[in-house]
Amino acid sequence: MIVQSSPAEVLKAIRAARRAGKTVGCVPTMGVLHAGHVSLVERARTECDFVVGTIFVNPTQFGPNEDFSKYPRTLEADLEMCRHAGADLMFTPQTASMYSGDAQTIVRVTKLATVLEGAHRPGHFDGVSTVVTKLFNITEPDRAYFGQKDYQQQLIIRRMVVDLDQPVEIVTCPIVREADGLAMSSRNRYLSTEERSRAGQISQALRLAQQSAGEPQLLPQEIAGRMVAHLESIAGIELQYAVIADTQTLEPLVDRTGQGVALIAARVGTTRLIDNEVLQFR
Ligand code: PAF
Repeated sequence: MIVQSSPAEVLKAIRAARRAGKTVGCVPTMGVLHAGHVSLVERARTECDFVVGTIFVNPTQFGPNEDFSKYPRTLEADLEMCRHAGADLMFTPQTASMYSGDAQTIVRVTKLATVLEGAHRPGHFDGVSTVVTKLFNITEPDRAYFGQKDYQQQLIIRRMVVDLDQPVEIVTCPIVREADGLAMSSRNRYLSTEERSRAGQISQALRLAQQSAGEPQLLPQEIAGRMVAHLESIAGIELQYAVIADTQTLEPLVDRTGQGVALIAARVGTTRLIDNEVLQFR
């Protein structure tokens, strides 16, 4: 596995792979890798001839009061996991080679990026869509792999590649969960033991929503109400939202004829966690 921090050298290596007739899969990450990321690299490995992973803690997607400076960096362990999962090349740029001091361009997906996470984290998705565009320009992938845990993110990236004619297929991979259901996240390591056991209630609330979706008389708002009631009954969980939204537009789902996704954001202690589940209405 090659480890390369220069964007120009990465592009050179990718183009050499392409000239050799290889298809390219890209797995963008911010490091602090866990089994969820490994599943993305493994999926890319099964579907592409050349797998490039990226590790870059992107400053532009963190708000002023967010955890950029304390975001953990575990590069050596991350590289080992990617080597083991079968990556061919890891792109590990420095901030200065991604953003020149006089950069003036942002990529903004408008409507989809203003709700839910976008409303709670203003500017976050501008940072994501801009850096992902740059990563696509540097790695020129045929396919790029994202986790469903960041449901809104993968939807925004799907919208962006269509709107900007970016020639890449977006593959969304299932959420990988801990034994109690907690979605794997780099931020889980911030949780104390007590917070960690409380955090499992977020996926319990999603399970409740899925069970409730099986009750034909319940409207989406009523199902969302059950999630809210469940999470608000637990001391130490500060709920930000628990909603049922249309799987494509993220607008509130009004009846059971559409496709719905249950989405939750909550603080457990100082750690902000998100999770989601696509609902099966019967
Ligand atoms: O999901 C992430 O880790 C990041 O938002 C991404 C897509 C790597 C962009 O920095």
